[in-house]
Amino acid sequence: MARDLHHLLLLAALLQQLSATSAGDVATGSGGEKVHVAIYYESLCPYSARFVTNHLLKAYRDGLLDAADLTLVPYGNAKVDAHGAITCQVGSSPSPFGCRDAHTDVGILACCMQHGPDECLLNTVQACAIDAWPDVKVHLGFIYCVSDLVMKNRHREWESCFQKQGLDPKPVTECYKGERGHNLSLEYGRQTAELVPPHQFVPWVVVDGKPLYNDYGKFEAYICKAYKGYPLLEACRSPGMEAENDVYGRL
Ligand SMILES: *[C@@H]1O[C@H](CO)[C@@H](O)[C@H](O)[C@H]1NC(C)=O
Repeated sequence: MARDLHHLLLLAALLQQLSATSAGDVATGSGGEKVHVAIYYESLCPYSARFVTNHLLKAYRDGLLDAADLTLVPYGNAKVDAHGAITCQVGSSPSPFGCRDAHTDVGILACCMQHGPDECLLNTVQACAIDAWPDVKVHLGFIYCVSDLVMKNRHREWESCFQKQGLDPKPVTECYKGERGHNLSLEYGRQTAELVPPHQFVPWVVVDGKPLYNDYGKFEAYICKAYKGYPLLEACRSPGMEAENDVYGRL
């Protein structure tokens, strides 16, 4: 009995190793250059939160993020004043954390409204999560959890995400309350300000250096199109992933 168990464990370990190896091959195998994906977003913007909970999670589940270098930039439209303080000023939005849509010149409804101190806080918390857990699987899980609460109007319960994701709160808590968190947010602010062309709204999704503008809903198709590796990513074979030329006109 004990021997059987031992064999079983050995087999499980072997299988795990095998699957880890093949996942790595997809990303780094022959000619498999990773696609650079950067997402500039705001923690409390419903469009950003929805992007995370829908598109980003789906891309992760479909294995597309294995083929990508993902950079998350939780900052959006926050401002740094002359003294280095970061503010997420609430605009003239009638609801306390509501986001009023704005029409941009690309015709999309965009969330350019700031959502107040809670937004700065959660931007920094997410920056700290990325810093504390560089593994995408881990920090994306946490950011997904927070974004899901944002979508449910329960973002103030964000600390429940530590437990839900089985994560130690300590590194993030120390970070967001201290200088480290502030520094990280300043750095994300710099990266956001340096965007060429500048972002017009959030989420601002950039694939291999090119912004998707209001086509960010087709995020997965853009990754498939940009991915030069072999073998083809399984998820890219499904219908709807083929590029229509006009869809890629901007790329
Ligand atoms: C924050 O940035 C300042 C200025 O670059 C630096 O001196 C300081 O050591 C940083 N602090 C932390 C905790 O990273």
